[in-house]
Amino acid sequence: MIRIVDLHKSFGGKKVLQGINLEVDRGEILVIIGQSGSGKSILIKHLIGLIMPDKGEIYVDGVETTRLSEEDRYKVRRKFAMLFQGAALFDSLTVLQNVSFGLDRYTDHSQEKKTALARKALSRVGLRGIENLMPFELSGGMRKRVGLARAIAYDPEIILYDEPSTGIDPIRADAINDLIIQMKNDLKVTSIVITHDIVSTYKVADRVAMLYQGKIIATGPPDEIRESKNPIIRQFITGAAEGPIENW
Ligand SMILES: Nc1ncnc2c1ncn2[C@@H]1O[C@H](COP(=O)(O)OP(=O)(O)OP(=O)(O)O)[C@@H](O)[C@H]1O
Ligand SMILES: [Mg+2]
Repeated sequence: MIRIVDLHKSFGGKKVLQGINLEVDRGEILVIIGQSGSGKSILIKHLIGLIMPDKGEIYVDGVETTRLSEEDRYKVRRKFAMLFQGAALFDSLTVLQNVSFGLDRYTDHSQEKKTALARKALSRVGLRGIENLMPFELSGGMRKRVGLARAIAYDPEIILYDEPSTGIDPIRADAINDLIIQMKNDLKVTSIVITHDIVSTYKVADRVAMLYQGKIIATGPPDEIRESKNPIIRQFITGAAEGPIENW
């Protein structure tokens, strides 16, 4: 469904992505792991056109997306939903208005229909009766769920999750893992999940890809990654301070 070919991106001479090659199959959950600052968020922001590559191509359903007209870009963007790192809700909008945001942007539904779909999305993530609360009134775990409801409300084909379980307690984090799996099963979406969390990785991934020094250095099913002999992967998944990974 998605094919990334030789993607490069630098910021002010700092090479962040240095030739990314990666494919994502329809309906799978691909988990991308890698250190802080390795370029994980930058990589998925390319998929939704928030960042343009210096070089390389991104194909979505066979269509190269990095050099599209405004109108075609919108059509591709409509296929994606993104759960941003930290949930990124609009502070001045209610929960319901936040969840309706993508519906306002990507659909021509009536207000009643949008409200009904927003409520349905909220109930899918286990939230009811909080439609009129403001984001500051929510716990971290609820904010993530509202972010997820906003992501699924307009029926996307691909969901991008940027660190969905970071910053919440382990039980709520695991509930988010369950939701990611549930979205795949119920909505048949294709998912890309970015995380540092190895426990979540093993739980949700159909396949894992490791980003290191601007390249995808390995991809494979969780078992294969767990058994990997590659010292960089071993150090990352065991969280050892000592090893080949340069720390700073
Ligand atoms: N708009 C920007 N301008 C300049 N540099 C940037 C910009 N966005 C990101 N960077 C740099 O690119 C690198 C990769 O950033 P990115 O946010 O993708 O990392 P990450 O892997 O998501 O890290 P984390 O796990 O901490 O979220 C970082 O060194 C960051 O400073
Ligand atoms: Mg990030």
